[in-house]
Amino acid sequence: MTARSTRRDFLKHSAVVGASAAFTAASWSRVYGANDKLNIASVGPGGKGWSDLTETAKSPHVNVVALCDIDESTNHLGRAAEKFPAAKKFFDYRKLLDDANAKAFDAVIVSTPDHMHAPISLPAMQLGKHVQCQKPLTHTVHEARQMRLAAKAYNVVTQMGNQIQSYSEYRTAVKLVHDGAIGKVKEVYSWQSGAMGWILADDRPAGEDPLPSTVHWDEWLGVAPPRPFKNKIYHSFNWRAWQDFSNGQLGDFGCHILDPVFMAVKLTSPTSVFADAPKLNKEIWHKWSKVIYEFPGTEMTGGKPITVTWFDGDGHKPANDLVGVPAGFQLPGSGSVIVGEKGSLLIPHVAPPKLFPEEKFADFKIEMVPARDHYVSWADACRGEGYTTSLFDYSGPLTETVLLGTIAIRLPAQTLRWNAADLKFANNDKATALLTKPYRKGFEPKWL
Ligand SMILES: NC(=O)c1ccc[n+]([C@@H]2O[C@H](COP(=O)([O-])OP(=O)(O)OC[C@H]3O[C@@H](n4cnc5c(N)ncnc54)[C@H](O)[C@@H]3O)[C@@H](O)[C@H]2O)c1
Repeated sequence: MTARSTRRDFLKHSAVVGASAAFTAASWSRVYGANDKLNIASVGPGGKGWSDLTETAKSPHVNVVALCDIDESTNHLGRAAEKFPAAKKFFDYRKLLDDANAKAFDAVIVSTPDHMHAPISLPAMQLGKHVQCQKPLTHTVHEARQMRLAAKAYNVVTQMGNQIQSYSEYRTAVKLVHDGAIGKVKEVYSWQSGAMGWILADDRPAGEDPLPSTVHWDEWLGVAPPRPFKNKIYHSFNWRAWQDFSNGQLGDFGCHILDPVFMAVKLTSPTSVFADAPKLNKEIWHKWSKVIYEFPGTEMTGGKPITVTWFDGDGHKPANDLVGVPAGFQLPGSGSVIVGEKGSLLIPHVAPPKLFPEEKFADFKIEMVPARDHYVSWADACRGEGYTTSLFDYSGPLTETVLLGTIAIRLPAQTLRWNAADLKFANNDKATALLTKPYRKGFEPKWL
């Protein structure tokens, strides 16, 4: 696909390329002996990337050979370089992925802000590298589809960084639903009711701040349209506030909180999405939203279509009577309730699940399912041992669903009918246009 292809062209291409046999990965795969190490690179080892890297590197079979971070200061590249002194250092992922340097590693961890997940992961997969990428998998729906198709086309081992999926609490909740504890599932409510810890102004702050000598701002912006550097407004962490780099509260938490729902109810793609939300600021995400998804029936719903309702914003959560918990019960700040024919399952984010009505389940002993190691299981799977559970074939559709909700938030108060097979909305061209975005020259992702 050339950089000059139209948006319509590449949406069309994304939807169908999965059927193409044009790409094979077998040529890159290698067989690991018992003493062979998996050589890994880490991109963005500063924030969440620090635990992504160090948790993965706990494996005795992992060798950290390359580190890439746009910030060379102690808190970012510096700290990782101190822990892994033999690793080669980069500040530009394009250099890390060039022919000469890419030969040194087999797998890469991508822990950058969301807008750079796909632009870094896609070319890595095209080089045959296994990928562990933070949540949400991508910044756009089109990118999420591409990530899933690339993982398949290049036959690489993948894992999204929704590590709570591997915790005992979420695994237990999923098993309870699969075991029929609440019967067939009727509806689901999920929420993240915390106040947002980011600025909520309408406009960018004026002016430009001096760039610290350690920070490579052009590389931080990557695919995003250029804007002046402002200290502590974007890098680090606060990029979450901004539409160019993130997808707000739903984008930030949806891939965690909706994950056990997706897995328990065996959801795939919604058929429609509707949002109630205030008018969006020019560049910053909204304060609150309510998003209603309709999904086709699954074996867990007895084949009946099912509604999943999402709430976010300060104190915004479902009413107790709606979800089948007693009036005085304090729902946690974030989580889900899966309502079934025989009762409701509360899945706090993150605490052990609880069944309601309490009297009915008084004698029900919940057996906690053991945790898995989300990070080391990826490294092991890259070496041909075991498997990952948030592979892009799963986390791609989960991310698509989350990001479809963020499109509905931009176009509230209308039902958007989703055609997953064709990667477009059946009844809204404006919404279809929001499945992708323009990319800055020099950083365009490598589409399939
Ligand atoms: N799974 C979780 O529980 C969890 C928790 C927090 C964050 N996250 C996710 O982790 C990712 C990072 O979030 P964060 O809060 O750590 O952000 P952050 O801004 O604090 O850290 C990002 C790191 O990446 C570096 N970086 C930024 N752009 C880069 C680029 N183009 N190339 C190389 N390095 C780059 C930064 O310098 C920094 O070290 C996001 O996708 C976020 O959603 C996940």
